[in-house]
Amino acid sequence: MNDLCFLKSDFLNSPIQKLSETNPNSLLLELSMKREDLISGEVSGNKYRKLKYNLAKAETEQHKTLLTYGGAFSNHIAATASAGQIAGFKTIGVIRGEELGVDLEKTLRQNATLRFADKCNMYLYFVSRANYKEKNKKAFRESLKNKFQDFYEIPEGGTNDLAVRGCTEILDENTAVYDYIACPVGTGGTIAGIIEGSLPHQKILGFPALKGDFLETEIKRYTSKTNWQLIPDYHFGGYAKVNQELISFINLFKKQQSIQLDPIYTGKMMYGLIDMMRNGFFSKNTRILAVHTGGLQGIAGINARLKKQGSKLIDYDG
Ligand SMILES: Cc1ncc(COP(=O)(O)O)c(C=O)c1O
Repeated sequence: MNDLCFLKSDFLNSPIQKLSETNPNSLLLELSMKREDLISGEVSGNKYRKLKYNLAKAETEQHKTLLTYGGAFSNHIAATASAGQIAGFKTIGVIRGEELGVDLEKTLRQNATLRFADKCNMYLYFVSRANYKEKNKKAFRESLKNKFQDFYEIPEGGTNDLAVRGCTEILDENTAVYDYIACPVGTGGTIAGIIEGSLPHQKILGFPALKGDFLETEIKRYTSKTNWQLIPDYHFGGYAKVNQELISFINLFKKQQSIQLDPIYTGKMMYGLIDMMRNGFFSKNTRILAVHTGGLQGIAGINARLKKQGSKLIDYDG
């Protein structure tokens, strides 16, 4: 699927996989996963959904360059670099952390995300953390315009109205039978799209990958529906924080289900969901669909950190 066609397809359904032996307490619960991670290795999961209409608009407006923002391990940076290359755009990544630009060769040797983005010809523009915080301010934006002239801007994490529209397409005719839809939450765009695409009988559960109570407000910017709830108990200490229990869960889940989870988003969601199933959150005969939003490229970065600490690694052959 890895060509321009998949970025331009009118409607792309990812498969649903029923999970085995996740039915605790004889409640006859059904747990399945929507394998958005199978859409494409590089522009995987929710990234494809978020970029699709943005790339179409950039093309209609005849921009030649995409510019976006992210940290050094960002799934969104990797996906934008790849999607831009596939669709024939130049790409610029404004990267948090000036120090990373001092010895670029060393940074690229050590960081798989940035190495991949560089390989896709993304121009990496490193800025200080202080400047990065100012990225939505007029002065910073003008400095970008002066430096790079014309570009189509995609926000950090890729969330905007068009991204939310793309994420409504995660749900399709095959997902209508499910009572609950679960997804991980970072900036809130993916869950907002899923909420917008949901049916009245469905409830959407969001598992934030980070601490903070700003997410509800963010999600409400994109949807006025109320059939959703955030489950704030499974962030494992914050964004990109992991512990051995989570790593063991991800490795066991892979053995049992043959599905690779990532430690930042989908691993935390599945840990939480299975914990809630065990603890009686769902009533008998409930059908639950968890959305696999991809993000597997982030495993290398977390594994590098775990290796330095001498901790157990995530089993990953990607
Ligand atoms: C793999 C993965 N899943 C889920 C999310 C959360 O998506 P959102 O930022 O739209 O809430 C992200 C971040 O964008 C992600 O990379």
